[in-house]
Amino acid sequence: MKIAIINGPNLNLLGTREPEIYGDKTFEIFLDELKKKYPAIEFNYFQSNIEGEIINELQRVGFSYAGIILNPGGYTHTSVAIGDAIAAIKTQVIEVHLSNVHAREEFRKISHISAKCKGTISGLGLKSYELALQYLL
Ligand code: DQA
Repeated sequence: MKIAIINGPNLNLLGTREPEIYGDKTFEIFLDELKKKYPAIEFNYFQSNIEGEIINELQRVGFSYAGIILNPGGYTHTSVAIGDAIAAIKTQVIEVHLSNVHAREEFRKISHISAKCKGTISGLGLKSYELALQYLL
């Protein structure tokens, strides 16, 4: 079973980026733990700070993978094009956020992504990704 995890801008800095909001674990360490816990899953991890590259990756995996776990980072609140890409592909997408976007600034309450996704998990830290995975299994 192939599962894609796609992280958007600034999530490459997880572990050092505002740890009081996003935690102090790097995504690489978390991913290693996830791979050990779910050895039967073939994970494909992709991170980019560039909107078009995220769209290219959604299109690449979006017709053959069993599921996509997507944290679009700040593009959540701005990117009509990422929302359009999710609507255009066949694979179901779960939107995840480390922080509770509804408990933060007003602009984070707007999402161009949520309505195009199967569901959204927000505010549970890295556990958000594992819960999305469990749904997809
Ligand atoms: C985020 C929330 C976004 O508002 C923010 O821009 C991020 C991370 C989260 O995982 O909590 O980059 O997607």
